[in-house]
Amino acid sequence: MANELEKENAAAAALDYIEDGMTIGLGTGSTAKYFVELLAEEIAEGLVVRGIPTSLQTQRLAEELGVPLVDVEQVDRIHVTVDGADEVDESAQLIKGGGAALLREKIIANASDLMVVIADSSKHVEALGQFPLPVEVTPFGYTITAKKTYDALCQAGILRPMIKVRTGANDQPIVTDGGNFILDCQCGVIPDPPKAAALLANVPGIVEHGLFINKCRVVIIGAPDGATIFEY
Ligand code: A5P
Repeated sequence: MANELEKENAAAAALDYIEDGMTIGLGTGSTAKYFVELLAEEIAEGLVVRGIPTSLQTQRLAEELGVPLVDVEQVDRIHVTVDGADEVDESAQLIKGGGAALLREKIIANASDLMVVIADSSKHVEALGQFPLPVEVTPFGYTITAKKTYDALCQAGILRPMIKVRTGANDQPIVTDGGNFILDCQCGVIPDPPKAAALLANVPGIVEHGLFINKCRVVIIGAPDGATIFEY
């Protein structure tokens, strides 16, 4: 329960980055859900904004709560994206994709003037890698891509990465909103995240990986009685 309060407090603090007239990328996951709920309350009280959801799950939530949405193809500027993270380090490097939405999350974050990450204190780490790194791959040739992913992670200095295809009901691979599979890569420690990101980006079959480097400028870590804001 403590983490839930931290998540909600982090989400509440992110509202300070929202202004009338903004177009807002809406993240995915349990922390981002708090943000969408709080945003909906502000909208009910007169705030005028529109959202771009980063997953079908967030789209459904926003629609239920009456948050106005805009088609991603119709937008020319995204002022801010508020999203959760699976891990965030001292340099605001992130692992994302625990909710399998990393591709849309990264497209929207990359197109935003500002990315604000909201998280409970358990996500704030010294080094990335305890959380298995999600890598989104095309279903075609995914076992080959998994081997090449292993090679890339080894080249990035990761010792004996362990890679598993994420499965759901009936042990079948889960399918992302983009129609792809997810490889969860247990790394332990990722000694050089930018190097790992660059090597993964070169593997054919990898659609996107969950390392977010040099994208996030504000990290808000929730506490039971408030939140700490780090600006980069
Ligand atoms: C979704 O794909 C992820 O990137 C989430 O943002 C991340 O998993 C954090 O989720 P929680 O807020 O539920 O921990």
